Amino acid sequence: MSVVDTLRELKEQVDKELNDLNGSAGLEALRVKVLGKKGELTALLKGMGQLAPEERPKVGAQINEVREWLTERMNQRLNAIQAAEREAAIQSEIIDVTEPHDLPVTGSAHPITLVMDELIDCFSGLGFEVMEGPEVELDHYNFELMNLPKNHPARDAQDTFYMDDNIVLRTHTSPMQARAMLTRKPPIRIICPGRVYRADEVDATHSPVFHQMEGLVVDENVSMSDLRGTLEAFAKKLYGADVSTRFRPSFFPFTEPSAEVDLTCSACHGKGCRICKDTGWVEVLGCGMVNPKVLEMCGIDSHKYSGFAFGIGLERIAMKRYGLTDMRLLYEGDARLLGQLR
Ligand code: PHE
Repeated sequence: MSVVDTLRELKEQVDKELNDLNGSAGLEALRVKVLGKKGELTALLKGMGQLAPEERPKVGAQINEVREWLTERMNQRLNAIQAAEREAAIQSEIIDVTEPHDLPVTGSAHPITLVMDELIDCFSGLGFEVMEGPEVELDHYNFELMNLPKNHPARDAQDTFYMDDNIVLRTHTSPMQARAMLTRKPPIRIICPGRVYRADEVDATHSPVFHQMEGLVVDENVSMSDLRGTLEAFAKKLYGADVSTRFRPSFFPFTEPSAEVDLTCSACHGKGCRICKDTGWVEVLGCGMVNPKVLEMCGIDSHKYSGFAFGIGLERIAMKRYGLTDMRLLYEGDARLLGQLR
């Protein structure tokens, strides 16, 4: 077979193989097979030595022409294959950012935290400063300085977890009153939110761990009407202008006189329902004028200064706010419920 025929056949064969190819790897193999060092076209070039000298230039030119043609064809094909491969990759990796998707599950602050933040906000607006203190507290602050000496019968009402004779889990946030008075000079205006502990059985309205927010004001000429005005402002800020407050006489060893404060039930607006046990009122805090004895024990001149204090039950506020009748719901951590209380 003449070189010309071989070349023509090679062209046809490569052309066909190129058309059948569909991957760049196969094309590379074909290039090596035809144009490589040991390729078919290269073999033809090497075989030129056997030709008559006068034929060599002509045949050489023909081989080169075919080489150029094949190179050109292969490049074209390579471009087409690479474009197709790129397109396929794009198609397979495509992300449709407009496709509807499930919203990620986001958490939310716990209702107690929400209530706490709201109260802090409210009292900050009235000029109170936040002060925090230990949950593991000395008996001295929790009881003694609060005018509850050892063996005082009122201690029983706040029986707690003792670490030893002198260290307790605080039964209320009131020890912060002592801590504030011992470290600051009047005028004092502080709130102390936090966790407190009592050895109570768990039921719908009791938990051995709960939350309070203490408030304390000590200054010259502080009177009961300042206490009333402050608590009135807090109630209205939290529940709106039509909420009423009711002060009932009460007893706490660290305040004199003492009161318990009720707010109109926000579920029934005072008509009576199961949340307020048909009374129309919900008890939310204890308060009173700081007992002069406590002022003196904490190094404050009770002739010059007077003060008031209050302790708000945060669970009560949260239950009132969210219409809960069972306090345990706040501690079970059921995301289906908590997600609704925002
Ligand atoms: N510490 C009291 C309690 O836990 C509440 C209180 C605080 C009462 C401040 C009067 C003044 O029940």
